[in-house]
Amino acid sequence: MSQKQKTDNVVWHNQAVTTQQREEHKGHKACVLWYTGLSGSGKSTIANAVDKKLFELGVHTYLLDGDNVRHGLNGDLTFTDKDRVENIRRIGEVSKLFVEAGLVVSTAFISPFQSDRDMARDLVSNNQFIEVFVDTPIEVCEQRDPKGLYKKARSGEIKNFTGIDSTYEAPTQAEVHLKTAEQSIEQCVDVVVGYLKEKGIIK
Ligand code: PPS
Repeated sequence: MSQKQKTDNVVWHNQAVTTQQREEHKGHKACVLWYTGLSGSGKSTIANAVDKKLFELGVHTYLLDGDNVRHGLNGDLTFTDKDRVENIRRIGEVSKLFVEAGLVVSTAFISPFQSDRDMARDLVSNNQFIEVFVDTPIEVCEQRDPKGLYKKARSGEIKNFTGIDSTYEAPTQAEVHLKTAEQSIEQCVDVVVGYLKEKGIIK
């Protein structure tokens, strides 16, 4: 069944409360902080630290994390390219809902393909999508190996592991570029929060 056939008899309803009204009510703008990077790059750690800082500043936030979402909503998906595309498509749609609800939503997924990150960007306004490249060399990720996954991937126990036998396309035009091998977590948090202030998303 085509997408068109699926939506032929489904009618869109505009909501009585607009996103702008929700933003005014909350006292800040809504956006997606889309973290991307290799496994072990520090996405979850930084996204959690930024989320905590924003929460303490009174910003209405939520965090969607790869490992956690794959336990529930995306529990049916594997790590083939096709399933990673579907993973990111769903997260893009969920992020859009959070933005419509007026929140600063953070997503921490490897999201290895640029076309999928662009697709997620296109679901919201361009100024509502902030791509955060957690740029950590694979050698550093592999040395950290917090879950022992690189070891398993090298021994062939895990297939399709990002950076080893599955592609990672690094962003070339991310709004925020973090280098966790050179910057502390606190410095990374300051860069992200500073960006949100500079763009007038939060006060
Ligand atoms: S993706 O590529 O965006 O669909 O991946 P994501 O949903 O972020 O899930 C990444 C986490 O899954 C674990 N894991 C793997 N990662 C990469 N490749 C393979 N084959 C794989 N198998 C399991 C791993 O814990 C990833 O978490 P992070 O936080 O990135 O290390």
